[in-house]
Amino acid sequence: MKIEKISEGIFKVDGRLATINLTPDSKVYGEELIEVEGIQYRSWNPYRSKLAAAISKGLTNIHMKPKSHILYLGAATGTTSSHLSDIVGKDGIIYCIEIAERSMRDLLKVCEKRSNMLPVLQDARKIESYSEEVGQVDIIYQDVAARDQDIILLRNSDMLKKGGYAYVAIKSQSIDVSRDPKLVYREFLDSISGKFDVLEKLDLSPYDQMHLFVALRKK
Ligand SMILES: C[S@@+](CC[C@H](N)C(=O)[O-])C[C@H]1O[C@@H](n2cnc3c(N)ncnc32)[C@H](O)[C@@H]1O
Repeated sequence: MKIEKISEGIFKVDGRLATINLTPDSKVYGEELIEVEGIQYRSWNPYRSKLAAAISKGLTNIHMKPKSHILYLGAATGTTSSHLSDIVGKDGIIYCIEIAERSMRDLLKVCEKRSNMLPVLQDARKIESYSEEVGQVDIIYQDVAARDQDIILLRNSDMLKKGGYAYVAIKSQSIDVSRDPKLVYREFLDSISGKFDVLEKLDLSPYDQMHLFVALRKK
């Protein structure tokens, strides 16, 4: 099998995106486990994860790496955060903020096996309830289906180091279904422009039609 390194901890195994399984023989969402020369990879499905879609679409700003501290807003059941857990490894950490109890039940099962994932059942608007625990992080990853996605990012950016990176899947449908998505994306970017520089913008089709994926750097 052909292994191609995309960046620290991210690979293509025979052309398919994958990370090295931090918890060998255990799956999170039915992904395929692939053994190559004693290393077990987990295939990373771009139809299930917007970060995998962005990387498949050529994202060049990939700054998540071993030992990174990541604040993940909207962790749902742990699909993407589990791959970030593979990437940051045992010495990294992912604070997984999720508002829905139902998703949290599944997320907890993932976090029980992965000591670098810390679950927080909370609204990402209420940073005062977790900011002390989180401290300062290298990266914010945000994928919340909410109307005020810009405000949520701005509030949480207090926990991001200066020069740190933020990745956001902006969902226009959650902000305003009735308006042209391009206008909704522009308003989001205008709103956060005081705090962030935009490094990259990616359309995620054919993997996802509903989002603009952006890589940002804190000023
Ligand atoms: C599209 S899903 C995230 C999928 C996940 N990022 C992945 O790739 O595995 C959006 C999640 O954001 C959560 N969410 C929405 N508003 C939130 C808020 N204010 N605070 C925390 N989580 C929120 C939803 O409950 C949902 O689980």
